[in-house]
Parts: sequence; C-alpha cells; structure tokens
Amino acid sequence: MESYTQETNFFGKTNPEALAQKYGTPLYVYNEKKMRKQMRDVRDLLPHHRYTANYSIKTNSNLSILKIALEEGINADAMSPGEIFFLKKVGFPAEKIFYVSNNVSAEELQYAINEGVVISIDSISQLKLFGQINPGGRLSLRINPGIGAGHHEKVITAGKNTKFAVCLSEIPEALKVAKEYDLHIVGLNQHVGSLFMDPEPFLNAVKAFLDSVKYFDEVEFVDFGGGFGTSYKKLEGEQPFDIKAFSEQLEIIIDEWQKETGRDVLFKSEPGRYCVAESSVLLGRIHSVKKNYDREFVGTDIGMNVLMRPVLYDSWHDIEIYRDGAPVLSGPKGVYTVVGNVCETGDILAKNRELFTPKENDICCVLDAGAYGYSMCSNYNNRLRPAEVMIDLNGEDHLIRRRDTLEDLLRNFDF
Ligand code: LLP
Repeated sequence: MESYTQETNFFGKTNPEALAQKYGTPLYVYNEKKMRKQMRDVRDLLPHHRYTANYSIKTNSNLSILKIALEEGINADAMSPGEIFFLKKVGFPAEKIFYVSNNVSAEELQYAINEGVVISIDSISQLKLFGQINPGGRLSLRINPGIGAGHHEKVITAGKNTKFAVCLSEIPEALKVAKEYDLHIVGLNQHVGSLFMDPEPFLNAVKAFLDSVKYFDEVEFVDFGGGFGTSYKKLEGEQPFDIKAFSEQLEIIIDEWQKETGRDVLFKSEPGRYCVAESSVLLGRIHSVKKNYDREFVGTDIGMNVLMRPVLYDSWHDIEIYRDGAPVLSGPKGVYTVVGNVCETGDILAKNRELFTPKENDICCVLDAGAYGYSMCSNYNNRLRPAEVMIDLNGEDHLIRRRDTLEDLLRNFDF
C-alpha cells in the first residue's frame, strides 16, 4: 500500500524527513509537474473558442510560481498594486495583466492606469472616480449575475449577500455614468465565488452574465471568473473536479449564446485554486502528543499563522503522517485534534481526525496546501513565515522562498 504522496511521487528524489532536516519546518513543498499540469488544464479549457486563462495570483504569488504560469502561456489577474508589482517583476507585460479592483483609492487606480493594465471596476462610485481621473478610458465592468457559489459563505462573491460587483438592475446607471465620462466598457467580468465541485450554479451564472452582454456595444472580452473545484477529501474518497465535463458544458452554453447573438468576443477565466492547491503540501513537525481530559491532541508547529484556512472557514485538509521518511500506513489508529503552536484554543488544523497513532518527531504532511496557504500567512505571535521549496521536473528540491528571520520582524522599525 502506498500513501497519496507516494502514489503521485510528490517528493521526487527526496522525502519529507530529508526536506524537514534540510530546510526546517513548517515548510511548503510544491511539485512542479503537478502544477504545470493543472495550469495546462485551465489554459486549454475552451479549445474551440477564442480564449485565455488568467491565473488569479492572490492564491499564491511566489515569484517562481508566477514564472511557471508565464511559461505555460497563462495571463494573470491581480487584486492590488502589490500583485501588479510582482507580475511585472517576473516579466508579465501589461496586456497580460487584469486588475480586479474593489473599493480602491484614486492613487491605486492611478497606479494601475500608469502600469497600463485593464482595470475591472465594481461599483457606480468607483466608475465615477475612474471617469474623473481617466476620462475617455477603457475598462471592464464587474457584473453580479445574482447567483453565487462557493465552499463557505465568506467566499461567495456574487448573489445577494456580497459587496462585489454591479448588480443587473444597476446596469442602466453604469451606462449613464460611462457616457458622462466618455468611458469605453470593453470588458465584462464576474466571479461567482471560490470552490464549486458541482458546476451547475456557475453555469447558470454564466447564462445570466452572458445575457447582460446585450446592453454593451463595445465589449471585446467576457471573463467568467474562477472558482473551479479542488477535492480536499481525496483520502476520504472524494472524486476530483471533472474539468473535461465542465469544459464541455461551458462550451455548449457559449455556442448557443454566440449563435443567438452573433457576438464575437474573447472569453476569459480566472481560476486560482485549481492551478496550485493540489501541487503543494505543508510539512510540520509533531512536537507533542497529549491528552487533555478527554481529548487527544497532536501538537505541531503548523500554527494558524501558517495555514489559516481551517480556522477561518472550517476547511478540511487531508493529513498523512510520515515517520523516518516513510508514511505510516499501518498500526493502531486513534482520533486526534491536530493543533499548532499559537496562543489560541482555536488554533486547530484538524478536529477529531482519525490518524495512525502519531508520535513525537513524526512529520505531519498536510495535503492540498498550495492555494491560500502561504498567501494568507502572517507573523502572528512574532512567528516566522515558513520557507517554500519546489520539487522540479527532475525530482530535485530547490528553495524558492527562504524562511523569515528574526531580523525580518524588525525591518519596518526605525529602532
Ligand atoms: N477572481 C476573483 C475576482 C477572485 O476574487 C478570486 C478569489 C478568484 C478569481 C480565484 O478564485 P479560485 O479559482 O481560487 O476559487 N481564501 C479562500 C478563498 C478566497 C477566494 C477569493 N477570491 C480560501 O482559502 O478558500
């Protein structure tokens, strides 16, 4: 029997114990082969249409990963000047960057305009601001199609309970403001939310969204957003997201719309998670195994500052235990609450999880950590953000971001 990481040869020529000794823990480890495969899937999503994929870099903006996206022929979406800055740094030209703004200052809009990137505007207020500072400019309008989808209410970004985008009833007002400032709405974009395994709500949103294109004469591109699923419970038997079936269903909807309207536009998507989630694991060291009254705890160095998703969204991440470089796949099992080293009782990585009995010094290998893992890290408790390592196509490991140092914690002080 093999573990998931063994079956997929995730660690190439090395293993979790060797990586932990070489680079320390906690440690994000990426697999280049898997990452490229996922990126190609989204790049080739609509083979029969004029189409480009944007990688949504908020998911993971490590420069080495951005470089891989660039090499794979993917464009990118940015959510802040910092993300535009990173994309430019690795060589993305302005025309490959889409800036999805939300509640931003005039200075921030000006920054994006100066960088030459197309900007998505997502409210009437911000459309007026954009018009004042850039009369005659080109932009994309973010539409809320009225249907959302996602793994948690916090990440559903369309429908009635979200701050994002211009709802369908506000379109006439948006057109009026655009006219006032001689603005050209050359794109329409949406993002219904993050992580759907069942594509139906997304596809319904696409229909409503495409229907709104009729109000806009100058539209050159239509961006459906991201949210494509990732199976986080694969060890429990959850099936992967069927991207092929999804692609076929999406193409049918687009074909029908094109036939009905005769419109010719460039289609875009902007997935993040699908590109990187499964190509990373997070390694931590188990430092204690203890019983507190009735509950068994496994204490690791993976605090909520290192992987926030379980605390923020009650997210599930599968866990493998490694001992002396090999996965533990037999022996006694128990039910454990796996926790970190941060001073909060809520610092829980996995609640009541059945695991092969872990021991001190084992490695806790957290699967599917590449999306919104490192990118949501913090220095809470003055802890150091982890290092990141890439297993390349030859199975060799390379450091792609060093661990913070104590000195890094001081860098914003004049002290
Ligand atoms: N486009 C826009 C405008 C977005 O806001 C997002 C994600 C994406 C694309 C990419 O969505 P994806 O394909 O990755 O689902 N931190 C949360 C997810 C937040 C998603 C934010 N927006 C998590 O860890 O689940």
